[in-house]
Amino acid sequence: MLTILVANIKGGCGKTTVATHLAAASAAAGLPTVLADVDRQHSSLGWLERRPGQAPALVGLDWAKDFSDAPRGTKRLVIDAPAALKTKQIEDLVKMADIVVLPVLPGAFDEQATQRFLTKLDELKRIAKKKTTVAVVGNRMRARTRAADRLDRFLGGIGHQVVTRLRDSQIYADAAESGLSLFDMPGKRAAEHRGDWQPLLSYIDGV
Ligand SMILES: Nc1ncnc2c1ncn2[C@@H]1O[C@H](COP(=O)(O)OP(=O)(O)O)[C@@H](O)[C@H]1O
Ligand SMILES: [Mg+2]
Repeated sequence: MLTILVANIKGGCGKTTVATHLAAASAAAGLPTVLADVDRQHSSLGWLERRPGQAPALVGLDWAKDFSDAPRGTKRLVIDAPAALKTKQIEDLVKMADIVVLPVLPGAFDEQATQRFLTKLDELKRIAKKKTTVAVVGNRMRARTRAADRLDRFLGGIGHQVVTRLRDSQIYADAAESGLSLFDMPGKRAAEHRGDWQPLLSYIDGV
């Protein structure tokens, strides 16, 4: 089983968007997949409740109180973390994870918070020894804007691999509302945006 932890101490940076998309991509690829929601707000589990019956099936686990076992035969475990995480919780979750996916938005406050989180991650032995790898994802990027240039400069200096950049698009709000992901949606627009995810999916497959 490959375990992917989606985390950042910044709220609203796209953790649930990334977690639901990674889980849906893995289900669409035919892998038995579990989406574990650590957030008390249960955004991932709410999305799962809205998921249509014809979409590739996912198992949801409520991890807000404790971390129950994934069913036997699970190939992918995607963990959606809340913004508010105690150091001990970060340690416990990172211990389980093969990969930490860290979404980051453009903007000074987001960069500050992300820097603090990365400093905490770097202090963990598993991260230092690369037993758990870190994949940074630039989120809500608008090409050729000052904000995007700024985020690129920030990402260039953090010492972790920036695996992909996701564009800012209304399609993510549509996906959230309908319990779907770009990997379950037909049409040209979804296909175009799926391209943004390919480097991250290849990275995960390579771990
Ligand atoms: N690439 C994107 N383009 C447009 N909207 C996005 C994108 N990523 C996330 N969002 C929206 O931003 C809001 C916060 O995202 P969410 O995934 O809930 O963040 P978090 O789980 O980190 O709090 C949601 O309304 C979501 O639909
Ligand atoms: Mg969330």
